Amino acid sequence: MAQIFHRAANTLAKATLYGIVLLIAAICIIAWEVNNSYNVYLGEHQVQPVPFSHKHHVTDDGIDCRYCHTSVETSSFAGIPPTHTCMSCHSKIWVNSPMLEPVRESYLTDQSITWVRVNELPDFVYFNHSIHIAKGIGCTTCHGPIGDMPITYRANTLYMRWCINCHKHPWRYVRPKQYVFSATYKPPPDQDALGRKLVKEYHIQSPRIITDCYTCHR
Ligand code: HEC
Ligand code: HEC
Ligand code: HEC
Ligand code: HEC
Ligand code: HEC
Repeated sequence: MAQIFHRAANTLAKATLYGIVLLIAAICIIAWEVNNSYNVYLGEHQVQPVPFSHKHHVTDDGIDCRYCHTSVETSSFAGIPPTHTCMSCHSKIWVNSPMLEPVRESYLTDQSITWVRVNELPDFVYFNHSIHIAKGIGCTTCHGPIGDMPITYRANTLYMRWCINCHKHPWRYVRPKQYVFSATYKPPPDQDALGRKLVKEYHIQSPRIITDCYTCHR
């Protein structure tokens, strides 16, 4: 009996099958990435009770992060400023601004402003600001160009693989400590060389913070 299919058809069928499998895999990966970035509202502005602008306060007025985020160097939390911090200036300037009405009301009624959280980890993850600050990791490395933000948004996923990526290659991100709070710092062209020097100088120990799950899940 004559062959119904030519021998080459076999190869063709195989190739098509592999092709389909690869295509499906590619679609899944793309869908997953898209889904991931939607899940965390990457780059999307939150609607806040007061349209607080880091661009105004940090870049135009030159106020240091620690004036408002007072515990960032000393504790795990950076802290969100209480209303009286705002009123230290806004009882004197822009006192009639309608945008500041919720701030004045909060001050008079003693009810704190309910800011919408922008960066938040699940409860089963342990994070600590002070250690990162002490080891020369800048605010903008994790929080993006905060000094350009009229409304605060999340710049990074905060996924586990994002944390681990830096814990594996800290020399790519570390900066001289005097620039940790700078909103305008740009890494130099020789970041790798500088970074490797700083990793030694600041005694950054990466192996433990990659392999030990207890570091972040305790
Ligand atoms: C005048 C006070 C003030 C200063 C100065 C300030 N911030 Fe803020 N920051 C706030 C307030 C109020 C919020 C809460 C509203 C919001 O998310 O925009 C906030 C929120 C944030 C958030 C998001 C918090 C969350 O919900 O995840 C980050 C990150 C942040 N600030 C970083 C910085 C950095 C970095 C600097 C210095 C370069 C800085 N801030 C300087 C008042 C300030
Ligand atoms: C150290 C002084 C200082 C502190 C503290 C401060 N501000 Fe301001 N704020 C300013 C100045 C100066 C401006 C004028 C903005 C500019 O640069 O154009 C301003 C402007 C604003 C505006 C815009 C008002 C308008 O009508 O355009 C808002 C809203 C505001 N601040 C909210 C806050 C909140 C909320 C806090 C507390 C978390 C705060 N500010 C803390 C100095 C301060
Ligand atoms: C290594 C990355 C990293 C660095 C560096 C970093 N942050 Fe954060 N920040 C985070 C993460 C992650 C969260 C969410 C923490 C949580 O939900 O427990 C956060 C949350 C915050 C918050 C919300 C309140 C809080 O404490 O949870 C503020 C405000 C903030 N950061 C300000 C700052 C400032 C100011 C600096 C620099 C002095 C800074 N961060 C440096 C990763 C970082
Ligand atoms: C840009 C770099 C960078 C990113 C991003 C980063 N880390 Fe770190 N982390 C470091 C460095 C550097 C150290 C200090 C390591 C040392 O020498 O102990 C550290 C230390 C820590 C420690 C303290 C370990 C200990 O017990 O001494 C914890 C906890 C931690 N990181 C959690 C996180 C989590 C959770 C995330 C993600 C949400 C994260 N880190 C993202 C750089 C980073
Ligand atoms: C540097 C910090 C860090 C270390 C070290 C770390 N994790 Fe995580 N892990 C995170 C963060 C942040 C999240 C939450 C974000 C996410 O789901 O990616 C997370 C989430 C998880 C989740 C939940 C995943 C999900 O989809 O909800 C599991 C399971 C997990 N980690 C297991 C581990 C194990 C096992 C280890 C040790 C090999 C480990 N982690 C080490 C930071 C870390």
